[in-house]
Amino acid sequence: MEMHHLLIVSVFLSSLLYGDAGITSSFVRSEWPAVDIPLDHHVFNVPKGYNAPQQVRITQGDYDGKAVIVSWVTPDEPGSSKVHYGSVQGKYDFVAKGTYSNYTFYKYKSGYTHHCLLSGLEHDTKYYYKIESGESSREFWFVTPPAVHPDAAYKFGIIGDLGQTFNSLSTLEHYMQSGAQAVLFLGDLSYADRYKYNDVGVRWDTWARFVERSTAYQPWLWSAGNHEVDYMPYMGEVTPFKNYLERYTTPYLASKSSSPLWYSVRRASAHIIVLCSYSPFVKYTAQWHWLDEELKRVDREKTPWLIVLMHVPMYNSNEAHFMEGESMRAAFEEWFVEHKVDVIFAGHVHAYERSYRISNVRYNISSGDRYPVPDKSAPVYITVGDGGNQEGLAARFREPQPDYSAFREASYGHSTLDIKNRTHAIYHWNRNDDGKKVATDEFVLYNQYWGKNIRRRKLKKKHYIKSVVADLIAN
Ligand SMILES: *[C@@H]1O[C@H](CO)[C@@H](O)[C@H](O)[C@H]1NC(C)=O
Ligand SMILES: *[C@@H]1O[C@H](CO)[C@@H](O)[C@H](O)[C@H]1NC(C)=O
Ligand SMILES: *[C@@H]1O[C@H](CO)[C@@H](O)[C@H](O)[C@H]1NC(C)=O
Ligand SMILES: [Fe+2]
Repeated sequence: MEMHHLLIVSVFLSSLLYGDAGITSSFVRSEWPAVDIPLDHHVFNVPKGYNAPQQVRITQGDYDGKAVIVSWVTPDEPGSSKVHYGSVQGKYDFVAKGTYSNYTFYKYKSGYTHHCLLSGLEHDTKYYYKIESGESSREFWFVTPPAVHPDAAYKFGIIGDLGQTFNSLSTLEHYMQSGAQAVLFLGDLSYADRYKYNDVGVRWDTWARFVERSTAYQPWLWSAGNHEVDYMPYMGEVTPFKNYLERYTTPYLASKSSSPLWYSVRRASAHIIVLCSYSPFVKYTAQWHWLDEELKRVDREKTPWLIVLMHVPMYNSNEAHFMEGESMRAAFEEWFVEHKVDVIFAGHVHAYERSYRISNVRYNISSGDRYPVPDKSAPVYITVGDGGNQEGLAARFREPQPDYSAFREASYGHSTLDIKNRTHAIYHWNRNDDGKKVATDEFVLYNQYWGKNIRRRKLKKKHYIKSVVADLIAN
């Protein structure tokens, strides 16, 4: 066949395979400079009173959502580590006692970080809680999720690479208007490692006070990014994740994990698996073994929605961090396809991007199949690294846009996944509102196990056409 015809065939092919061409949105929203909010700004205010608990945050405390871990810092002395709680405001029937620790980072001396487990909670219930600290005690509330059930509706927020700039504040404020009930956090919290010496610890503290307005009232499920590593040999600090692991806790033992850096929880109708891009994950490592076992524990009859979180995206067409996710893709993509993961969220790249359902599992160094192809069993890959940190946006996408890339835009924002029942979830990327009516990315996500996915059936037909056309070319 002549080159000319080949070209036409391949253009025809790719439009068949992927339907609508991907969109690179040229929209550029106005933004604040990518600099951190000054230390004396009110978003970092220290609560009043001697030894008042600050940096209050909660996360899921068990496998199925009947426990919460409350964490906070007392600055002046250890204090009691006690939380009083109950389902009536001001009347606390229960009390739990946690533990505390303190540490140094270079010459910075941390406050006392407390972690306290509230367990045996009722599902779908509003709890009020008081962190005990004499006259300076503080009170908050949270709502437990519904019991694990295939049709339990639940709305998740998804935030990555947040940092502590005015863009971060805008993202957080917009997120808090979304009505979402828990945050899936994609790594890179404070960006404190952009500072030196004692300021590193100081900026970990400010970040936690900044996000308290949300983290004290709803669980944030943490995953770790490169800015959590804090490898700083010039000041003698070489223990990976030291600040992060002292301050942030996860219910990893409940999912039989051996490290707080990878774990999973079940919440309403979702099974959420959190991976760590910066811990060993190749074959025979602890994380690899654990994921192998955990995927077998997933029961789509109980939790139809299988969601994976990681920091480094496996599919990314931005110049920033291009192909950094290849090593994890080589290790895990086959499992994700085999287990029909619904969606994989990542951060790291400071922009937004969504893929079609594609896989590159046929590729190995000798196969010759070196292109991602439509694959109805594959997850949707979504990068939400656009929280708004001081490194700014990753505005340079690679051209041309790869066929597998459905939508990409370099603006700050967050996403929501509004699970309606076992078959339907409404996904929405929310660019930080700028008063202009411009389409953002929204679609119905059909469940990979239960859903009647019309698009999938279409793809099947296209696969067939692909092989016919491939035969044509070969002959
Ligand atoms: C923890 O705090 C105590 C004071 O309560 C102090 O004596 C100790 O040195 C601190 N430990 C570290 C590792 O900073
Ligand atoms: C690599 O691909 C070739 C050709 O598709 C296949 O025969 C072989 O089994 C693959 N190797 C592995 C290790 O998957
Ligand atoms: C699931 O939710 C979708 C969207 O709200 C709705 O159209 C559909 O009828 C629901 N299915 C069931 C079985 O309730
Ligand atoms: Fe990152």
